[in-house]
Amino acid sequence: MSGRVRLGVNIDHVATIRNARGVSYPDPMRAAIVALDAGADGITAHLREDRRHISDADIARLSVMLRERGKPLNLEMAVTSEMLEIALKHRPPAVCLVPERREERTTEGGLDVAGGHNWIAPFVQKLRDGGSRVSLFIGADPQQIEAASRTGAEVIELHTGAYCDAARDGEAEKAAEILEALKAAARQAAALGLEVHAGHGIDYETVAPIAAIPQVAELNIGHFLIGEAIFTGLASAVTEMRRRIDAARADARQGP
Ligand code: PXP
Repeated sequence: MSGRVRLGVNIDHVATIRNARGVSYPDPMRAAIVALDAGADGITAHLREDRRHISDADIARLSVMLRERGKPLNLEMAVTSEMLEIALKHRPPAVCLVPERREERTTEGGLDVAGGHNWIAPFVQKLRDGGSRVSLFIGADPQQIEAASRTGAEVIELHTGAYCDAARDGEAEKAAEILEALKAAARQAAALGLEVHAGHGIDYETVAPIAAIPQVAELNIGHFLIGEAIFTGLASAVTEMRRRIDAARADARQGP
């Protein structure tokens, strides 16, 4: 449980830049290859209902390339019949179910698993039958975690956006409080037999406290890495993130 933390690199915003011009570059597939070569354990991509960044064709190409390389595609998607059909066509090794509203800038909150249990549980089952490992993107809320454990999903991904925002805004007390809630959520989830992932808003400054949570097995990081790539290159950004994750985990193992 406190071993190496896997790093999933989210390449959505390479597609955001491409789509700003409606051309074929920069290619998210090329970014995925660079990220893998630099030490990413897998690639994460969110096929949004409005296709604002990743496209259906991107998912098709990524699926083939990642399968050839023996690395997992983690497909983030909304709980809709359209997305289910796409997931069952490509059968990615991992699917992360996220809430989605068209007007939001990014995924702003976690999935309401407690409120939507009756339709999320059968949805999870269909994805599992298709061969995907299913993760639910949720907030650090005991009720949501308990509900997640009853859906048949094997994984939860904890939403770290509020922690990262508070830490970046210098709101130390608020950040510490949210971090404690994330730690408690990770303990609760692991005790219920769920694998714990975390993601959203993570940068070089916020990654260490999250990577140090012993139950966290995987981090999914995108926007910051793609932004940092402008200055240092993507390979260097991924390598540095990997280094910080490993250092945080090693420090946590040694204790204070
Ligand atoms: N995990 C999930 C479930 C997400 O929806 C996102 C954003 O698409 C991320 C991780 C990555 O977040 P960021 O791009 O802020 O690093």
